[in-house]
Amino acid sequence: MGTLQAQIDPHRLPRHIAIIMDGNGRWAKNKGYLRAIGHENGVDALRKVATASARLGIHYLTVYAFSSENWNRPKSEVNTLMGLLVSSLSKELKTLLENDIRLRTIGKVENLPARAQRELQEVIERTRDCQRMDLTLALSYGSKEEITEGVRHLAAQVEKGQLKAANITQEHLAQALYTASMPDPDLLIRTSNERRISNYLLWQIAYAELYFTPKLWPDFGEEDLHQAVLDYQNRERRYGKISEQLKSQ
Ligand code: IPE
Ligand code: IPE
Ligand code: MG
Repeated sequence: MGTLQAQIDPHRLPRHIAIIMDGNGRWAKNKGYLRAIGHENGVDALRKVATASARLGIHYLTVYAFSSENWNRPKSEVNTLMGLLVSSLSKELKTLLENDIRLRTIGKVENLPARAQRELQEVIERTRDCQRMDLTLALSYGSKEEITEGVRHLAAQVEKGQLKAANITQEHLAQALYTASMPDPDLLIRTSNERRISNYLLWQIAYAELYFTPKLWPDFGEEDLHQAVLDYQNRERRYGKISEQLKSQ
């Protein structure tokens, strides 16, 4: 067991970790490689972090793999990323099964190429009964779009007379999002020294602890994950209360 891992309190783990996996392009550039090589190494980092998370006892890991805004990248890069998604899915199935990890997605998956949708469906189906951890890929995901769709769904229920506008609660909206069946993230990690959310899980991270690291995603590994969890465990989640109220609970 690593020295960092030994310091982690297994009873106070974040239930749900969300990650903005950023910096593949800069990692490649620094080394004089094509951006595509950065993305390939990003997949390796994801495999390491996902298996380390499952081993640690994390129940939900939700990673930003492709944003709705990423469609605006050069066509060749979008094609590379979609190709990598397809090739990685079949390759990683074994790792997922061995580690008892269930694959899920959030986002407008219907916008992905048909081949990617088929591969996703296949891996989701094959890992359906895995129970240790849910690994959710955010693909063609945008939070504002997700919330807008959720509002549209509730408005349609109001139009049909199934719901009264005055009775809409936070729970209704939460249930209309892609993440309906998951707890909110406790910890949000972003790599590559950027301190922004980039349209990721805006509603769900209302009370998440934010962790920013200069590490570029392909360099982020198990030790970095443990560091982030330790940092999380050293924070006091007050939810609007004062420190003394928490101690007396
Ligand atoms: C993250 O790395 C991967 C995706 C957004 C798909 P980037 O490709 O954004 O890498 P940088 O930010 O250009 O370094
Ligand atoms: C966010 O990274 C999306 C993913 C990691 C998939 P970006 O690199 O696209 O974010 P911005 O554009 O720098 O905010
Ligand atoms: Mg980036």
